Amino acid sequence: MKILLTGGTGYIGSHAAVRLIELGYEVEILDNLNNSKIEVLDKIEKITGVRPTFHQVDLMDYKATQRVFSEGGFDLVIHFAGLKAVGESVEKPLLYYENNIGGTINLLKCMREFGVKKIIFSSSATVYGDTGETEFTEEMPTGVKIVNPYGKTKFMIEEILRDVATADGDLEVVILRYFNPIGAHESGLLGEDPNGIPNNLMPIVMRVSTGEIEELKIYGNDYDTVDGTGVRDYIHVMDLVDGHIAAIKKMQPGVAIYNLGTGRGTSVLEMVAAFEKVSGQKLPYKIVERREGDLGEVIANPDKAERELDWEAKRTVEDAMRDVLGYLKGN
Ligand code: NAD
Ligand code: UD1
Repeated sequence: MKILLTGGTGYIGSHAAVRLIELGYEVEILDNLNNSKIEVLDKIEKITGVRPTFHQVDLMDYKATQRVFSEGGFDLVIHFAGLKAVGESVEKPLLYYENNIGGTINLLKCMREFGVKKIIFSSSATVYGDTGETEFTEEMPTGVKIVNPYGKTKFMIEEILRDVATADGDLEVVILRYFNPIGAHESGLLGEDPNGIPNNLMPIVMRVSTGEIEELKIYGNDYDTVDGTGVRDYIHVMDLVDGHIAAIKKMQPGVAIYNLGTGRGTSVLEMVAAFEKVSGQKLPYKIVERREGDLGEVIANPDKAERELDWEAKRTVEDAMRDVLGYLKGN
């Protein structure tokens, strides 16, 4: 099976590339390197012994994307490419709508033109919005009070995929709603390396540990959670990747949606404690005001993926911390 990974040099895409190559899939990568580096290909090659064919192409460039498909002969597209910085999406909404939605439409048009019938899309728990719930099943309403353009693009792309699948009964669509991916490849060669200042907890914790950031600012300790700090469902990136592999094997015509999470919540203070245990290092922090748009607790109900895909997350938050520390040492 030949698979095109859009956004394949990015954080999640690169880990997926490694596992897919190891399992014998033929992999090509399309990425404009907006938020990733070409050196990732060296790392993939070092781990797997295979250097995937790489196309430095922007999905917004329709002609260039068409060229990739005309020579590709792909059986499946895994669509990781997208912009994902929540704060930036508030400042530059048109960029996010154009890149994420426009890019996806170009991709779907190329798939139609070249007869590619399978797509897996990287969605997010953010599509559930603010329903007042803390644990989410796939049947729950989506699009409720989503506060930022990034989250809205994920919701809108899900809707577009449904419509396209209705129009073409042969199309096989899997929407995977990621909860909070963290961690790195066990080799220490691949990990999360965001360009610019990170917004997410794990990359910030790591930069505090190296002294690049002075202290962790914990956004509020007055939520209705175990210790008042925000609770999330952190999933190891390699478990997340295994969820994609499980989905590939079960694809069928129509749209299938799965949460990819662990079903376990961890608070910010518990994350700090886990980091301190694994690293043996104290992590300086300060409690500050809540961050606008944050929810208290967001946890996946992963039962559907377990039941239908025969998949479940196996790694712990501490495993993820250990792998990220390994990655920091290796770099
Ligand atoms: P990432 O930024 O590391 O990877 C995305 C890749 O897409 C980057 O390499 C970037 O250069 C590329 N890209 C962006 N726009 C492009 C375009 N127009 N044409 C070609 N390439 C383009 O992000 P990631 O963490 O690996 O996330 C992958 C996907 O998963 C994204 O769609 C993201 O929204 C989604 N997701 C991520 C998280 C998370 O916490 N990491 C959570 C939920 C969903
Ligand atoms: C954020 C985004 C979400 C996106 C997800 C993955 C917001 C409001 N939500 O989710 O749309 O899908 O990232 O990219 O930005 N925290 C701190 N201090 C920090 C950073 C985070 O206390 O410096 C806390 C947060 O309040 C939260 C938890 O850590 O309770 C996790 O935060 P983060 O990693 O940003 O993920 P989400 O908020 O779940």
